[in-house]
Amino acid sequence: MDSIEIVGGSRLAGSVRISGAKNAALPIMTAALLADGEHVFRNVPNLRDVHTMTRLLGRLGADASYEGGCVQVKASGAIEPTAPYDLVKQMRASVLVLGPLVARCGRAIVSLPGGCAIGARPIDQHLKGLEAMGADVELHHGYVEVIVPGGRLAGSDVAFDFPTHTGTENLKCAAVLAQGRTTLTNCAREPEVEELARVLNKMGARIEGAGTSVISIEGVESLHPVDHAIIPDRIEAGTFMVAAAATAGDVLLEGIGFEPLEAVVAKLREAGSTVEREGDGIRVVGSEVIQPTDIITQPHPGFPTDMQAQLMMLMCLAKGTSRITETVFENRFMHVSELNRMGANILVDGRTATVHGVTKLEGAEVMATDLRASASLVLAGLVAEGTTHVRRVYHLDRGYEHIEEKLAPLGANIKRVSGHA
Ligand code: UD1
Repeated sequence: MDSIEIVGGSRLAGSVRISGAKNAALPIMTAALLADGEHVFRNVPNLRDVHTMTRLLGRLGADASYEGGCVQVKASGAIEPTAPYDLVKQMRASVLVLGPLVARCGRAIVSLPGGCAIGARPIDQHLKGLEAMGADVELHHGYVEVIVPGGRLAGSDVAFDFPTHTGTENLKCAAVLAQGRTTLTNCAREPEVEELARVLNKMGARIEGAGTSVISIEGVESLHPVDHAIIPDRIEAGTFMVAAAATAGDVLLEGIGFEPLEAVVAKLREAGSTVEREGDGIRVVGSEVIQPTDIITQPHPGFPTDMQAQLMMLMCLAKGTSRITETVFENRFMHVSELNRMGANILVDGRTATVHGVTKLEGAEVMATDLRASASLVLAGLVAEGTTHVRRVYHLDRGYEHIEEKLAPLGANIKRVSGHA
């Protein structure tokens, strides 16, 4: 198993191109199940989760392949609507096949994703929506079985109890081929959720209100395949922004606009960084002194939970005390103990972490526990005194395209080492 070795202390400078968004690519790949013919998706990041999804689509009977940033999906033949445990357990986002399968096949059997490192993450909101649209839902032997009597879902009104990202995506995919109109309220408004609606409309769907909390979908008889390029990854971009801020660096992020990152930009500015638009990207110049700032994670357009661990690492070096409150997931502070082992001073009480800034972090052997926690440990390694080894980097590889190959040209002393546990 690989690890990442970082010798801290380098100031990052230069430019880096932002990859396509994982959380946009995954639901768009599953949406390909909704139309016969060959779809082409470009700017798809070369990530473990993308390869898992390609395998899952293959297991369902689609012809799916990844090559050089391009995913091709052909779902013309018979589709076997069963998503098995061995793939779902590797990636919770596998549950995104549920909506497309029910819409296309009138039934689906999908392994329940179960608990994961950052919380329980149930799918009750997804199932509630499908039931409202006329499906029968049964749970047995760790699987959820959804059957639509008559084969076609019926348009309905569904109000989410809270905005769920993949829940909104699943129900959108379910509703596009339903009989009649569906109105979804209290929807997730993340840019990736909006992007899925854009792609579905390009396929011939009739979705209004994408990107808002109320989405209206008029079901159509059929959809057609598309050729589409995936939007840039705002979380990868945000992670590089923190790298620049933490190292008092000067980094240009190419190919990403301000809009999806406004909450992150505001916090980096509060911390003392200069963040400006430049060309088709964003330039971040970190300051020598990092100011403390309080953060509360919220659904979009609030501060993203996927950037909480990275900002917490930055606050470890702030001149003062910051409070970071996690409201989206109930157990997303697993990076805290590892950061504390590197010399940070963080106390957790329930959903709030109090971060007392320290003057330096020290390199250590640390263990990645989930995707964004791993990113915060790599960032900590960049600024720590001495050498840091981040173990279990398979978590990192789920969501970052060769992070070491993107950080090294900016001046980071970082490499991947093969063969560590
Ligand atoms: C997606 C993202 C993930 C991000 C998260 C929040 C993908 C593939 N993943 O995850 O990177 O961190 O949004 O922005 O896009 N919940 C329920 N019942 C449900 C659905 C959700 O209780 O039916 C709870 C979850 O446990 C969690 C909260 O709602 O506490 C938000 O979850 P949700 O928005 O659904 O996250 P994901 O879609 O899994």
